[in-house]
Amino acid sequence: MSMLTVEGLDAGYGATNVLRKLSFSVQRGAIVALLGANGAGKTTALRALSGEIPARGRIAFNGVELAGLSAARRVELGLALVPQGRGTFTDFTVEENLELGAYTVASRGQIAADIERWYALFPRLRERRRQPAGTLSGGEQQMLAIARALMSRPRMLMCDEPSLGLAPAITQEMFAIFERVNAEQGTTILIVEQNAELTLRIASRGYVMEVGEIMLEGSAAELLASSTIQNAYLGA
Ligand SMILES: Nc1ncnc2c1ncn2[C@@H]1O[C@H](COP(=O)(O)OP(=O)(O)O)[C@@H](O)[C@H]1O
Ligand SMILES: [Mg+2]
Repeated sequence: MSMLTVEGLDAGYGATNVLRKLSFSVQRGAIVALLGANGAGKTTALRALSGEIPARGRIAFNGVELAGLSAARRVELGLALVPQGRGTFTDFTVEENLELGAYTVASRGQIAADIERWYALFPRLRERRRQPAGTLSGGEQQMLAIARALMSRPRMLMCDEPSLGLAPAITQEMFAIFERVNAEQGTTILIVEQNAELTLRIASRGYVMEVGEIMLEGSAAELLASSTIQNAYLGA
């Protein structure tokens, strides 16, 4: 069963079209990799899916057509985005950032329980709960951005280049957390990355974008073995 089906998506900036009839799908409960070189249009695709920029084409999410719906409504329906560059509120504390992420959740008790759940998964966030987000390390800010997105109780989490600028050990820790969230909460996860190898190790399926469209797709194992991926990303 498909959680997300994208068909013939066109989007861009002003007169410049970046996406060219982009089509792909994400199975319910899967971890899927959306790969591609810098400038391929990955961020533009996520912005179109989250409703941040207008798009033409079909976006079916959990059986609902998203075209025309506001970004806030898409979050309410369970589609959450962790933007490239993280976008935490640097002057607010860690805990305030988490509370802000829960704006779709009405019950105070639920919010408190969710904060506890994510502190258990991200112990360093608990230690820093009273610190402004701007004082955290890059890795901690990325963890906070992910935890904040999880506070909206998403069915599907989209994460834009989470490993950007992070040390390899921190990236591995973060990817292990994606696997846990996927396994324990059943959250479907779409990871946009330039780090193809690491992402394909936790994903079941992957798509490779080039100038606004999918040029290659397959199971993670197929893509890891493919010569295109080897040459383009894995330095083989
Ligand atoms: N805000 C913007 N205004 C105009 N062009 C943009 C903007 N953001 C991105 N682009 C252009 O869109 C193309 C795709 O960019 P982007 O989606 O950010 O790619 P990726 O995330 O794969 O690196 C690039 O040619 C980029 O220069
Ligand atoms: Mg990008």
